[in-house]
Amino acid sequence: MCGIVGYAGTAAANEILLKGLERLEYRGYDSAGIALVNGDGVHVYKEKGRIAILRDSMDQAQPGPVGIGHTRWATHGAPSQVNAHPHQSRSGRFTLVHNGVIENYEYVQREYLADVEMVSDTDTEIIVQLIEKFANEDGMQTEEAFRKTLSLLKGSYATALLDELNPETIYVGKNKSPLLVGLADGVNVVASDAMAMLQVTNEFVEIMDGEMVIVTRDDVQIKSVDGDTVTRDSYIAEIDSTDIEKGTYPHFMLKEIEEQPFTMRNIITKYKDENENIKLDEHIRQAVLDADRIYIIAAGTSFNAGLVGKEMIEKIAQIPVETHIASEFLYNMPILSQNPLFIFISQSGETADCRGVLVNVKELGHKTLTITNVPGSTLSREADYTLHTYAGPEIAVASTKAYTAQMAVLAILSVDTARAKGIEIDFDPMQQLGIVANAMDIFMEKKDELEQMARDYLSVTRNCFYIGRGMDYHVCMEASLKLKEISYIQAEGFAGGELKHGTIALIEEGTPVVGLATQESVHLNLRGNMKEVVARGANPLMISMEGFEEADDKIVIPRVHELFTPLVSVIPMQFIAYYAALHRGCDVDKPRNLAKSVTVE
Ligand code: M6R
Repeated sequence: MCGIVGYAGTAAANEILLKGLERLEYRGYDSAGIALVNGDGVHVYKEKGRIAILRDSMDQAQPGPVGIGHTRWATHGAPSQVNAHPHQSRSGRFTLVHNGVIENYEYVQREYLADVEMVSDTDTEIIVQLIEKFANEDGMQTEEAFRKTLSLLKGSYATALLDELNPETIYVGKNKSPLLVGLADGVNVVASDAMAMLQVTNEFVEIMDGEMVIVTRDDVQIKSVDGDTVTRDSYIAEIDSTDIEKGTYPHFMLKEIEEQPFTMRNIITKYKDENENIKLDEHIRQAVLDADRIYIIAAGTSFNAGLVGKEMIEKIAQIPVETHIASEFLYNMPILSQNPLFIFISQSGETADCRGVLVNVKELGHKTLTITNVPGSTLSREADYTLHTYAGPEIAVASTKAYTAQMAVLAILSVDTARAKGIEIDFDPMQQLGIVANAMDIFMEKKDELEQMARDYLSVTRNCFYIGRGMDYHVCMEASLKLKEISYIQAEGFAGGELKHGTIALIEEGTPVVGLATQESVHLNLRGNMKEVVARGANPLMISMEGFEEADDKIVIPRVHELFTPLVSVIPMQFIAYYAALHRGCDVDKPRNLAKSVTVE
């Protein structure tokens, strides 16, 4: 979703800000803009569409050493040049970018700005107009006007402000939306995430909700809501900048699919101690042991991983688990058990729906654990505990390696808990993850076959169904999400036995149906369900596991432990979705309407 960058230094800010915005592209956006301070004031450049268009429009821009930039994912007002950020106050003195949603913007406009004609349809514009009003009419200094304005806002914001009269300063405010300040020698920067400014620094300071920051090239002052100075240690973002480049790959998604065997091996290393035991924080172990019920909260692909996690924890550690969609749980909390543990699964650690639940359950005094790929993220900082998925930056909007990494960590957590409870486990999770990594490797060699299947089944179809039972059903939900989000084919994952209760009506001559059968107790039932759809004209693509395979199966995954099958069976599904999108001419890494990091509810 929206992304922010800011630069206060000595070099020309143009290129640094453009590069920063390009590194935020993965979050999803539909317009972009930059405000540059140079000798004769603040200059705003903004365009609808890709950053490349903005770059072209800045061809003649006069370089300056201070600036702010923004990628916008439209919420209030259509994607357009006028709604793109930065927005300026009526006189042009103040220029502002904003990420988040101002819930009371109509009220603020009515109460304070009735005499100001708004230029855009955004919720953002009222912020910059109000700052100018307080500065002009009430004679406030910029910092005071900014603080007063922020105090009137309800909702979420990460925002950066330029004042033409103080051109060396960037004023920053944050509430609920992510924002970091980066530190370097004679340069300080602002960014929605560390990746955006790695070209300048890897040293960052977190900003907490309600805080304001005054950033110049030589100084960073963090201030509390009351204006008191706050001191906070910086941290080093451990991201290798090569991890966020595509290298020789045509798409990040393909790179990330292929990184999965490495990620599995990385997770083994990170979660194993020198005695080959599971390495886990004792407090996390205890929190899981203390729980009488676990509530997994997540969205999208992470929710699908949570469905598999439920099976793993219940079957291995014997603790009841409920997996909930974060946005549903937020406004419909079920009756909770006496001692619940909340596990938030989130690749980005920034998903606003999850954060809403986290804030609520913390208020109720419950213990919280975040499983994330970004340890410094909001959900990681705000939960009691964090487990890192060690997948490396995931840039493609379609989540692949984060999904398998989340399930791998959930498997380790399940076994650790089982052992701590004295439950006998007849397999070693690290060994199983090694087997999984080897099984994944096999598919990396079968890309051509999978590409051909994508051509055969999905080149022209308008819909596609995935059916499975038990764990396989959860993988089918993930496979269908992957296909629909990047290829725009209407795809649905169903429980094999449920089709005949309605959905089978959609099967027509030639409708592709992918069947997944890796679970001993239900694989024959699933084959029965496949026969039902084939009898009605479906074009079947059967995926099974060694030991359960039949002659016509198109894909047979290598034998792995039954509870680990999702980590392997999803790989051919990811490849097929990738190639289907590619052959249909879709923008694989940046699918329409989607954002990587969903920071608004
Ligand atoms: O960062 P998160 O894991 O919290 O994100 C949740 C979903 O937005 C995300 O998984 C989304 O569904 C992906 N685009 C799926 O590929």
